[in-house]
Amino acid sequence: MTLVVQGLDVAYGRAQVLFGVDLHAPAGELVCVMGRNGVGKSTLLKAIMGVLPARAGTITFEGEDLSRLKTHERVRRGLGYVPQGHETFPQLTVAENLQVTLEAARSADRAALDEALDLFPALRGLLKRRAGFLSGGQQQQLAMARALVTRPRMLLLDEPTEGIQPSIIVEIEEAIARLHTEAGLAILLIEQYLDTALRLADEFVILDAGEVVRSGNRSDLHDESLHQLLSV
Ligand SMILES: Nc1ncnc2c1ncn2[C@@H]1O[C@H](COP(=O)(O)OP(=O)(O)OP(=O)(O)O)[C@@H](O)[C@H]1O
Ligand SMILES: [Mg+2]
Repeated sequence: MTLVVQGLDVAYGRAQVLFGVDLHAPAGELVCVMGRNGVGKSTLLKAIMGVLPARAGTITFEGEDLSRLKTHERVRRGLGYVPQGHETFPQLTVAENLQVTLEAARSADRAALDEALDLFPALRGLLKRRAGFLSGGQQQQLAMARALVTRPRMLLLDEPTEGIQPSIIVEIEEAIARLHTEAGLAILLIEQYLDTALRLADEFVILDAGEVVRSGNRSDLHDESLHQLLSV
């Protein structure tokens, strides 16, 4: 279940944004990708999911080269992706959002849907509400639940607590911790805040201007020289 990125270059037109990025996300581990605004964190996840093409480098998941696979094929291989800004279908109800995701994956796995709702009990009371009327935090929970109904083997989360009210941040963090420790799910988490990373991460990488400038395990995050690379 290991995701390995090697020498990844990504560009928007002529503007190169990632430069030779290496990343190793092993089975069952929670890896935090950190760094200030605009350093290329979301670009890295988009390239892993095939939303953006890689200009150079390789991305493999469980030994398989992903480069020729479209995004939905990468999802089918076991990568679950929650983009930054919690995308949902605003006109559809919470129940419909989950249902269409199951159908798109040609799955009838009602148990997976139930488990996703167990993780976010607040959504159970909102099943008939249109997603567009949910709070930002509730939409983020729905976006995560949608990614979970296809039973990913690795979950890629792009700043899931960004701009969300503190009480729901706690619920989302707890859900991430449970997925990691109880379900043993591998998680690649983009996270700007050191205190959250200190609670959740097994390993981390820090990007600066599109390059990996530091990496290590959770205890290395106490090193104060990292602070200048983060928004702390
Ligand atoms: N569609 C795009 N076209 C051109 N440049 C882009 C595009 N999307 C992002 N960029 C640029 O690429 C760089 C990296 O952006 P990216 O979104 O990956 O950063 P980030 O680390 O996720 O930032 P944030 O913490 O604000 O989400 C930035 O300089 C950004 O302006
Ligand atoms: Mg981003």
